[in-house]
Amino acid sequence: MNSKIVRETFLEYFEKNSHTRVKSSSLVPQNDPTLLFTNAGMVQFKNVFLGNEKRNYTRACSSQKCVRAGGKHNDLENVGYTARHHTFFEMLGNFSFGDYFKKEAIHYAWDLVTNVYGLPKEKLWITIFKEDDEAFEIWHKQEGVDASRIVRMGEKDNFWSMGDTGPCGPCSEIHIDQGENVGCRRPECSIECDCDRFLEIWNLVFMQFDRSIDGKLTPLPKPSIDTGMGLERISAVLEGVYSNFDTDLFIPIIHSVCDYFSVEYKNNESTDVALRVIADHLRAMDFLIADGVLPDKEGRGYVLRKIIRRAMRFGTKLGAREPFLFKLVDSVNESLGDIYPEIVQNQIFVKNTIKLEEEQFLNTLEEGLALFDKLVDRSNNILDGQKAFKLYDTYGFPIDLTLDIAKEQNIFVDIEGFNRHLETQRQKSKSSFSMNIDLKDSLALALRDLEPTEFVGYDNLEYKGHLIAIFDLNFNNKNVVNAKEIAYFVFDKTPFYATSGGQVADSGFIFSETSKAYVSDVFKHLDKYFIHKVEILEGEFEKDKSYTLSINVARRKDIARHHSAVHLLDSALIRRLGNHVKQAGSLVEPTRLRFDFTHNFKLTEEEIKDIEIIVNSWIQEAYPVKTTIMNTKDAIESGAIALFSEKYDEFVRVVEMGNVSRELCGGTHVKNTGEIGFFKIISEEALSKGVRRIEAKVGMSAYDHVLKLEKALNFVLKELSTNVDELPKKITELKQQPKEKSKTFKIEFNQEKIKNIDMCNFYIDFVEGNIEMLKKYGDAVKNRVKDIVVVLYGKFEEKVYIVCMVSGECKNYFKANEIIKNICKKFGAKGGGKEQYAQAGVSIDKINKELVFDESLYKKEE
Ligand code: ALA
Repeated sequence: MNSKIVRETFLEYFEKNSHTRVKSSSLVPQNDPTLLFTNAGMVQFKNVFLGNEKRNYTRACSSQKCVRAGGKHNDLENVGYTARHHTFFEMLGNFSFGDYFKKEAIHYAWDLVTNVYGLPKEKLWITIFKEDDEAFEIWHKQEGVDASRIVRMGEKDNFWSMGDTGPCGPCSEIHIDQGENVGCRRPECSIECDCDRFLEIWNLVFMQFDRSIDGKLTPLPKPSIDTGMGLERISAVLEGVYSNFDTDLFIPIIHSVCDYFSVEYKNNESTDVALRVIADHLRAMDFLIADGVLPDKEGRGYVLRKIIRRAMRFGTKLGAREPFLFKLVDSVNESLGDIYPEIVQNQIFVKNTIKLEEEQFLNTLEEGLALFDKLVDRSNNILDGQKAFKLYDTYGFPIDLTLDIAKEQNIFVDIEGFNRHLETQRQKSKSSFSMNIDLKDSLALALRDLEPTEFVGYDNLEYKGHLIAIFDLNFNNKNVVNAKEIAYFVFDKTPFYATSGGQVADSGFIFSETSKAYVSDVFKHLDKYFIHKVEILEGEFEKDKSYTLSINVARRKDIARHHSAVHLLDSALIRRLGNHVKQAGSLVEPTRLRFDFTHNFKLTEEEIKDIEIIVNSWIQEAYPVKTTIMNTKDAIESGAIALFSEKYDEFVRVVEMGNVSRELCGGTHVKNTGEIGFFKIISEEALSKGVRRIEAKVGMSAYDHVLKLEKALNFVLKELSTNVDELPKKITELKQQPKEKSKTFKIEFNQEKIKNIDMCNFYIDFVEGNIEMLKKYGDAVKNRVKDIVVVLYGKFEEKVYIVCMVSGECKNYFKANEIIKNICKKFGAKGGGKEQYAQAGVSIDKINKELVFDESLYKKEE
């Protein structure tokens, strides 16, 4: 029975028994900050178990994508060495939300395993929680399992919890005895042994409690069922193999890795470990990136980075010298793409992300290894903690990697010292906040007994509110404030929008017949109190009195235009660039907007133009903007764009613009997209790896921007006495005028120009300069780096000169005259020289500048 049939048989069986088949949820848990990754089938149902959420079914089944590589359930370091540990795996499960309980759950499991999958009863064993007499009775009396085959176990084995908090309960597991030739082979081996002989195939959890942070167990509203069966394991059993890696889920991936490295599987144990690690990790990275996780220095991104780097390290054991993982992702997509289409839809983004991470890591690795050598105290074989920390902090060298290398070279790493430095650094970066935190504490105390502020600003631009608290700048309570004072006001209701979701706060005035104050800022505290920062202009303000709150309407409208444009931009980016585009941050102000999003490449002129056209056409369509309050789950299921990491309440506000945009958002918006007027992107740049930033303006601000550009252009036209059509020609002419002889060329050594080709470091550059300049430049490079091949191109007037120098160890591998010969062949240049120095020249129009930096031009022929 292959894995596809195993998966489908499971789901069909439970569908026949009135379960609703539910799609796997994302690997990034929605709305659950307690969890790093989805690590079991029940995660998407957590709130249903807790009674906080209702679904229109009480029985469900699923095949869930899971990752266990970080947090409570963490298998990373074992992967590759055992037959059954994985970072990514699929979990088959059936669930009852207060519907059936132990009797039915046990019956379904036994029936499916023995009658449908056809596993021999005499090989099956059961474990139960030591106090669970009820489960014992059901297995024994209802299903007829021999009492000697039902083993009672303690909390460690038979009490399941999703994490440190959340739903949990006693569980019962079905194990299969794979025979005495499997596992430790000790005569006394039993179900309690940790070896592979007795393999757990299915865990039935009788969900009964909610565990709180202090460990207290509160009974759930209704006892429920959560089960989990690892698809990889049950497939191995049903395919008759002893390792998950030998199932049809892994073999095709392993074979593609073998083909790439020209190695064989099952020939050599250390090669096999590497193959298993790579096959496993490829699946994890593919699925994680497709679900929006990006390599990063912390959190989920850090785990992903560790997975990619671990796979690369094992790759080097197979001979990898350059990025390779990204090329092998296809094998995962072929094996699982039909079940989880998201990996196919996002494949280009996934591959690019992996490739970039591989390139970056190879650089880090090279620099780090050299530095490691310098930092180690060879006489004592010790790397001290501060130095290990320097590797980590300054050079981005992960500590586990340092430990790995140290282990290979028999070097002791002072890990305690490392941890001390890490902690000091953490404290330092925290202390910059601490001032704020103290103030916030006193604010929290002062607001303790107050009702939350009601925001009435979606429909009102002016409103009468009751002043329920006044604070001075240190958050001390006050009853009255007078002219010229600065203070914080809290009202029962306010039309002022407080900074949130990237949108800046409103400004405006608060007044009565005799007093007036200016509101310069508004922020939220604990997400429920709106704190207005005010400067009293006239009269006095007294606690417990009513005042009129009036926002700056023109400013609010400008903000709304920019905010609505952010939504259109988000949708346009997805349409033009693909579904991998996810918002990574935004800023909405009255005169500009900024939008950060995941994408690996600089946008081309064409792409930017297309995006502007899409957004402007949606503005011209004048779509009505509709806001509705919806249940969060329904909103997300309806396809509304939500932020990954954001925690949403049970109900959310959904903002819709025609049928082109639908987003969860609490901000203020225009009533019709036509009000935005005109949209113009003013810049596009990289924010960090894999994240781009667009800045744009709309309405009058966009017009002002265009006006400014026009003014600058008019100035240039006037200075050059030309017109718009003639301008390009004019500029070309100007550039062709002979350069001043005295011009000095500035050329500098730059570490980043070094790349590794065929095991040698190459320094390649294209500059402005004649042959003398190039020689000087080349000598400077040789002085900096001992073993190097230098290839320099210099543009001088209408010619390009080329100089090649080979020094140090590289002389054993490359010859300057051969490299120059190849270059001459490629570009039709003329030149020659000796083994360590050669030069050439060619007219400028024959040079293809991109090719100059292409490795293939210098690689030795195989
Ligand atoms: N949630 C249970 C597990 O992961 C079924 O084992």
